[in-house]
Amino acid sequence: MGMRILVTGGAGYIGSTVAAQLLELGHRVVVIDDLRRGHRGALPERVELVEGNVGEAQTLERAFSAEPVDAVMHFAALAEVGESMQAPEVYFHNNTSNTLRLIEAMLKHGVAKLVFSSTAAVFGSPERSPIEETAPKRPTNPYGESKLMVEQMLAWFHQIHGLRYATLRYFNVAGGNPNRGEDHTPESHLIPRILQVALGQHKSIKIFGDDYPTPDGTCVRDYIHVSDLAQAHVLALDALNQRAPLIYNLGNGKGFSVREVVETARRVTGHAIPAEIEGRRAGDPPVLVASSEKIGRELGWTPKFAALESIIASAWEWHRTHPKGYGDAKA
Ligand code: UFG
Repeated sequence: MGMRILVTGGAGYIGSTVAAQLLELGHRVVVIDDLRRGHRGALPERVELVEGNVGEAQTLERAFSAEPVDAVMHFAALAEVGESMQAPEVYFHNNTSNTLRLIEAMLKHGVAKLVFSSTAAVFGSPERSPIEETAPKRPTNPYGESKLMVEQMLAWFHQIHGLRYATLRYFNVAGGNPNRGEDHTPESHLIPRILQVALGQHKSIKIFGDDYPTPDGTCVRDYIHVSDLAQAHVLALDALNQRAPLIYNLGNGKGFSVREVVETARRVTGHAIPAEIEGRRAGDPPVLVASSEKIGRELGWTPKFAALESIIASAWEWHRTHPKGYGDAKA
């Protein structure tokens, strides 16, 4: 039997991909999105859109009271480390305080299941790699802190109110689908920026630092395909019927340096993609690689796009066919 699932941030890169998978599985999807960073064009057909912010009481009421909600997937958040270092209050407001409002609405309406989008940024600069779920949480920026505070609240809501939740900590999400891809303005993420160079939209890719303690001096990250990540949400939601809470790190367990990503993109696109070395970007840990062994073992999650080449190829396909993204560039 299909459920009615509230997807906050369902017009965003990850939320829209998950919404599409839920619809394919026969669920009904209601989206809350204020379309400030999300795109109307990313919304799958057949979703019900409540346009507004999760911090607004009337928006929450509209989503929860029209018909019963069986579960919530909460993607709506800001996710730029650099921006959070400039304006921490905006991050605590949007990511922490607004999530509390959402949870209060869930409690009010008797909704017991939540899948929450967390981040590798809760770990800060890890001592050990790959990073397991139990590794120390020492965020090095307000973005990571804003998500960690929610993780800590969730544990209490579980204990006291029986909230059944899954926290999924994303590493570097990338890749696209025929209908959906990554479109941020301004774009800060490595893979879309590289592909913008391949499209001739920028002259070169700037590599932020080549003096890190890594094999080639550039930062190492763990890239995960957005569809594989979406699949993990579907599995987690299902598993919440059996047990809670669930906490998983999500990556492919293999790190690639910035130089390796550029090199792979050159092969995939056949474009020279000139690179220039710049100074380090504030707040970047040298290496972030996930252990995703736990979700594999417990939920049987197996990524279909584990190879970096296939992740970049799928992103390239989307960028090549959507050179202006969704065509509604936002500041
Ligand atoms: N980079 C460049 N040039 C660019 C863009 C990025 O060299 O033009 C480098 C970055 O310095 C970093 C790597 O490429 O070393 C990846 O950068 P991204 O901005 O693509 O991703 P991040 O690793 O900074 O961020 C991701 C998520 C965040 C999350 C963070 C955890 O996007 O939401 O991991 O640290 F918080």
